[in-house]
Amino acid sequence: MNNSLASFLGQPLIIGNRTIKNRLVLAPMTFLGHVAFRELVAQYGGYGLLYTEMCSARAIPNENRFVSPYFKWRDEEITRLVCQIFGGEPGIMARAARRVEAEGFFGVDINFGCANGSICRQNCGAAILKDPDLAVNIVSEVRQAVSIPLSVKFRTGWKDDPRYAVDLACSFEAAGADALIFHPRVAPDRRTRPPRWDYIALVKRAVGIPVFGNGDVFDRHDCRRIIKETGCDGVALGRMAIAKPWIFAEWSQNLKVSPEIYLEAALQLAGFLEKHYDATRAIRRFKRFAYYYAANFKFGHTLHSRLKNAADMLQIETILHQFFRTSPELVNRPNLNFFK
Ligand SMILES: Cc1cc2nc3c(=O)[nH]c(=O)nc-3n(C[C@H](O)[C@H](O)[C@H](O)COP(=O)(O)O)c2cc1C
Repeated sequence: MNNSLASFLGQPLIIGNRTIKNRLVLAPMTFLGHVAFRELVAQYGGYGLLYTEMCSARAIPNENRFVSPYFKWRDEEITRLVCQIFGGEPGIMARAARRVEAEGFFGVDINFGCANGSICRQNCGAAILKDPDLAVNIVSEVRQAVSIPLSVKFRTGWKDDPRYAVDLACSFEAAGADALIFHPRVAPDRRTRPPRWDYIALVKRAVGIPVFGNGDVFDRHDCRRIIKETGCDGVALGRMAIAKPWIFAEWSQNLKVSPEIYLEAALQLAGFLEKHYDATRAIRRFKRFAYYYAANFKFGHTLHSRLKNAADMLQIETILHQFFRTSPELVNRPNLNFFK
């Protein structure tokens, strides 16, 4: 069974004018999918693409990758990295996409999924799904601006009606999108109710471009199920990839994982964060990671509350070493209290 999952995930997939070697991708996640985390994931391998955190389209043309905390990458990763942009104006989105293309990214992704209040108040992210004509205009202008693969990440919309998502998916395809990442939840739902995977199946059937299913894939069984039940072409992993940065290699290359990997990965991330960020940003990002990482352990809340109160990276390292001295018990499925 593990082999059948690995062989599905290991099949190449054509996205626009490029091909990826693997169908498991890292979903975009603000404060989590940063350059340091991606360096950790890259060390294990096994993924098809990595997505950046969402980047403001308005800011991108003037961003300096060596200063910006978000529009930041390592040269080695850029050919398998998709830059996610958010914004509410077609011209501004197109201009940002041009810079993304010029920098050499694999592709550009449009964020129509973020339901966060501060983004929606700017009429960006999922708020745009209230105005399908605007959403389609954005896709169309970005398409005309660049020739690199263009994906669109979106949610069901603001009403729990799959017809709306299916219509949007067809319009995005007609406007030139090369792939879709579909997270089948309505926009106000901050992951409290289960995602409607049956809606992914409807979207997949309605379009000819690849569809990545997304939402609540926590273990291999879920991954097999979402593929089988929806017919999706690939899977975008969010929170579970944060909890287990080696998960791409584990599922698609059958990497054998020993308990030592948990401590090693956390220490390595601390080191990569220190390399890429100043001390304040590094520790803030480590604490965000720690929330999902703690979900791996039976007594994860103890670990999390200690890490949350750490003053610096040295303390974080000490806490990690202490925690692992007692061989902490792992859980089979993550503690979902951490995953809200
Ligand atoms: C902390 C956090 C930050 C996120 N940031 C983004 C983002 O910047 N852009 C985006 O399209 N989705 C974002 N998402 C949504 C994820 O990409 C994904 O759709 C969601 O977590 C469901 O997938 P999962 O169940 O595998 O985590 C974020 C999710 C979380 C938990």
